[in-house]
Amino acid sequence: MPTLQATALIDALNYTFGRHSGARASHAKGINVRGAFTPATDAAAIVIPALQHPQPVHARFSIGGGKPSISDKSPTVRGFGLEIGNGPESWRLALISAPVFFANSAEQFRAFLAARKPDPEIGGPNPERVKAFNAANPNTMPHQLFLAETPPCRCYSSERYHSGHAYRFGSKAEVFARLMLEPEAGRVGLSVAENDAASDNFLADQLEQTLSVGEARWTLKLIHANPEDNTQDPTAPWIGSHDETPLGTIAIRSLSATGDDKVFDPSVFPNGISAPNDAVFALRNPAYAESYKRRAKQ
Ligand code: HEM
Repeated sequence: MPTLQATALIDALNYTFGRHSGARASHAKGINVRGAFTPATDAAAIVIPALQHPQPVHARFSIGGGKPSISDKSPTVRGFGLEIGNGPESWRLALISAPVFFANSAEQFRAFLAARKPDPEIGGPNPERVKAFNAANPNTMPHQLFLAETPPCRCYSSERYHSGHAYRFGSKAEVFARLMLEPEAGRVGLSVAENDAASDNFLADQLEQTLSVGEARWTLKLIHANPEDNTQDPTAPWIGSHDETPLGTIAIRSLSATGDDKVFDPSVFPNGISAPNDAVFALRNPAYAESYKRRAKQ
């Protein structure tokens, strides 16, 4: 992708959320953690050599949007960036709490953000502009409806996280599968009253408390595409039941004082995995590099 397009994507994030010294252009508010990956014993059908062994994990939980001061009560996605392993065979992932993404092209990504630029007279996005965007872009609605209808998670540790993209697995890259992190203790949501009563930083506070008494664990799973599923469009829901392959367990054990310089660029993955056939996926590497360049400069 031309650098110009990456610049335009980061400009679009900065236009809506402002430019904040040292912060990521998206998912600006977050918390660094550490843990470990343990391979599943029953994933023989899918061989990813680096994942046959235990690996260290560096990770970051975040809340969507480019404002470092965003309230944790905001109705936006939760993010989980992970680096599994630390050598040339490491795997970087940036997953969100919604099963589908909000754009399937650079143009739609920019238009989605432009429609949500806070209007100074209203003190937030202009509902008329959001309505017009939604009417013209119906494929973005599953993401928005999911957030509107799903109670926000009680803790970063009690959330499911999704890749949106379908990676390819197998020796001929013939298996298409989205990724999901399923919390071992189950998903736990907050009622509207609980969310209203929570503090603006409750997600970090709750995580610290959770990790003070034990680890937080997820199963890393492949969700295999059915023949009718769209594997090229991260806004397209996959309906109904799907075969699953567990790859292993992610256990998050402690907060980490380091990691702000990490870039969870999903185009870094080990042998045994092939890149999604997906236009949005191709945008991410140059966009994350441009965001990193800007935050490193400030
Ligand atoms: C047009 C496509 C996308 C663009 C332009 C984009 C842009 C960005 C940027 C600029 C960052 C900050 C990078 C950094 O400074 O390290 C970021 C972070 C992140 N993005 Fe995206 N993104 C896109 C798609 C996605 C998708 C499809 C997902 C997941 C389904 C996702 C999940 C995340 C998460 C979880 C983070 C936070 C990672 C961290 O903690 O460092 N993004 N994104």
